[in-house]
Amino acid sequence: MQVDLNERIPNNVGLADDRRLLRALERWQPAFLDWWRDLGPVGALQHDVYLRTAIGVDSDGWAHFDHVKMPDYRWGIFLAERAADRRINFGIHKGEPAWQELPGEYRAELRRLIVIQGDTEPASVEQQRRLGLTAPSLYDLRNLYQVNVEEGRHLWAMVYLLHAFFGRDGREEAEELLGRHAGDADKPRTLEAFNETTDDWLSFFMYTFFQDRDGKFQLCALAESGFDPLSRTCRFMLTEEAHHMFVGESGVMRIVQRTCEKMREHDTDDVAPYGAVPLALLQKWINLHYSICLDLFGSEESTNAANYYAMGLKGRYQETKIDDDHVLTDRMVTVPAIEGDKVAAREVTALKAMNETLRDSYVDDSQRGLNRFNKVIRSFDIDCELRLPHRVFNRNIGAFAGIRAAPDGTLVDEATWAAKRDDWLPSAEDRAFVESLMHPVTEPGGVAGWIAPPKRGIHGQRLDYRYVEFH
Ligand SMILES: [Fe+2]
Ligand SMILES: [Fe+2]
Repeated sequence: MQVDLNERIPNNVGLADDRRLLRALERWQPAFLDWWRDLGPVGALQHDVYLRTAIGVDSDGWAHFDHVKMPDYRWGIFLAERAADRRINFGIHKGEPAWQELPGEYRAELRRLIVIQGDTEPASVEQQRRLGLTAPSLYDLRNLYQVNVEEGRHLWAMVYLLHAFFGRDGREEAEELLGRHAGDADKPRTLEAFNETTDDWLSFFMYTFFQDRDGKFQLCALAESGFDPLSRTCRFMLTEEAHHMFVGESGVMRIVQRTCEKMREHDTDDVAPYGAVPLALLQKWINLHYSICLDLFGSEESTNAANYYAMGLKGRYQETKIDDDHVLTDRMVTVPAIEGDKVAAREVTALKAMNETLRDSYVDDSQRGLNRFNKVIRSFDIDCELRLPHRVFNRNIGAFAGIRAAPDGTLVDEATWAAKRDDWLPSAEDRAFVESLMHPVTEPGGVAGWIAPPKRGIHGQRLDYRYVEFH
């Protein structure tokens, strides 16, 4: 069957006039739809979901709401508007016009950056595929599916870049993005955090709070790129990423709210018997998801990261707002390291410390989110604070890989770790408890007992609106 891709793929990249690109996408699209059917949301192909579809890049354009079946969602290709006379803002090419075509000398590096980003998008859909079976409300179910289709669109965005600028090996990489799978024994996803399963909704909200926030920082760094099509692609993706983090933050916030209500009502910290998630459990989930996400930024010292920056391919968070020369030759900074039996600091070049610099921005942003949760807890007059664990805790990449440490950063021996692990990270028992709370609530307006209702509906709709219709 011939698919009219102009019709089916809303875009602002002139697809109708680019036969070669159109043909490449035509060949890729059926594989994408097969993948969605096989590894997308379980049992949801026929559901009518109240989704927002991007049909343009201005503020009206991506606010089109309608009930659609997810396989019919119009995954579009959008780049933010081109800024007149955009320049490369950092690295050795600083001040030169931004590249509108692929800079041949950096082909391999750009391909790698795009593939790494691209791999995370379908991975998250795979990780979250079973969540639809236990959504705490139709509102939440719809938000899950919205996140899923947008991650699908982010995959389209990266595949567009591969097809439009990289020829044959770009097409091969695009195929491979559907060939690797989260948690697959033979062909796993590239980054470890994208191979975990996300089977309960506490994990989903933590995921969208922490892991989508990593996405935000990676996209912000790529949005600074001197390769303009990549920059513009990522800038538009960021508008969607903001929604994913809203889902995470408001989700955790509503759990905190319900927990605090139950703590007050029953005058106890142990609200599990009352069907709520104790703050101690929330802390363990934070410890897990945050530490996994810190790994996503890579090693404290990295030659690749230095090259990406020097070449003008991947910048820092809000690069142009930073007050320095944006070239950074000869500048030294400190990064955390292990010295003997404690955490210390070590001097490295600012260029090689790029991963750590981006991680720093992420840590600050995550802390701001936690502050908002703690404000809710304080409003109940409850003396408890949720904390980000120290960055040495539970790490698998970089200077702290394999180091045993408590959440406060104290290094511990293997025996202490074994004895305390279940106090610091979700235990099998904790997981079983959280799973025991996961029952789908499917009547319009109903919300599961372990989470407070949302403050408002979606796009002006009421809370008891049918956000998802089952078929
Ligand atoms: Fe994404
Ligand atoms: Fe996302």
